[in-house]
Amino acid sequence: MQGRSSIEGVEKPIKLSSNESSHGPAPSAIKAYQECLPDLNRYPDGSQYQLRKAIADVHNLDADRIICGNGSDELIQLMVRAYVNPGDQALLSENGFIMTNIHCVAQGAELVIAPEKNYVVDVDALLERVTEKTKFCSIANPNNPTGTFISKSELRRLHAGLPEDCLLLIDDAYAEYVWDEDYEDGSSLVDEFENVVMTRTFSKIYGLPSVRIGWAYCPSSVVSVVGRIRTPFNTNGPALAAAAAAVKDVNYTAQIKAHNKKSLEHISEQVTAMGIEIVPSQTNFYLLKFPESSGKSGNAAADYLQSKGIIPRPAGGSDQYLRISVGLDEENAAVLTALREYMGA
Ligand SMILES: Cc1ncc(COP(=O)(O)O)c(C=O)c1O
Repeated sequence: MQGRSSIEGVEKPIKLSSNESSHGPAPSAIKAYQECLPDLNRYPDGSQYQLRKAIADVHNLDADRIICGNGSDELIQLMVRAYVNPGDQALLSENGFIMTNIHCVAQGAELVIAPEKNYVVDVDALLERVTEKTKFCSIANPNNPTGTFISKSELRRLHAGLPEDCLLLIDDAYAEYVWDEDYEDGSSLVDEFENVVMTRTFSKIYGLPSVRIGWAYCPSSVVSVVGRIRTPFNTNGPALAAAAAAVKDVNYTAQIKAHNKKSLEHISEQVTAMGIEIVPSQTNFYLLKFPESSGKSGNAAADYLQSKGIIPRPAGGSDQYLRISVGLDEENAAVLTALREYMGA
């Protein structure tokens, strides 16, 4: 679901509620988008060839097993429509991408939700809940709103414990930000097994959420099934062109990744010194926990930040939590100042 985007009376709020990139897209992506404008009278390339090839070249993948979608959300919906039937069980982790839950419910599936341990996907808790009705399992890795991830070996252990007729969808929307060497995206599992798909997005590190473009890496059988229900022009021309330029601009992406890591380290140090707990994140957002003993809360902190023109995202469930996207240096500084004031108040 969308984070809040405006504050009454504030002309230009600092919007840190939807895990967007405050840096925006690479200049090369904007140029590619603009170059499409004279051709708006033409249908886009329904085969999505240029973008699939650009992704395949950069990530060393098979272009024939990539499908692009109107955001990764559309691809998740298509996978669920194709592989989940009414009465099936969809096995999901406590946190993740809420639209996945919604697509499964819309398909008539029963949701089976496994709790997490210390803010991390708990593979044992997921595997304990597998039944003969489990036909779909999905985790976000890294996860949202926690920003945590499970290691290569844990991801493989999850896959190994699922039945062969259960599709494992690994939602890697934040993969490009992760620096921990114990992390692996879902692509090698996709190469090895027939029942794994990985989804990715241009909405996060590539700064292109408005054009709506994501991609999935799949076994050939899934490409063929999903290809039959995908509409021919689900991705628009300027979005395909901008995304192809963005993925090729590896230096720009590396800069954003490095800045994000440095910013998170600084933020983490500062909020810890204020007595706020921060969940270790490998993404472009962080989850704060306000200790009960402090008398402070996530909702009250959100109200205070909003009074200073900053929009964070109250994290559902408990009032103790608040999720904030990493922004530009001056935006992060404004957040830290406001949090310090709130904690001192
Ligand atoms: C974990 C996760 N997956 C998927 C998405 C969807 O991204 P999009 O549909 O913009 O590609 C999001 C968006 O916030 C997300 O947090």
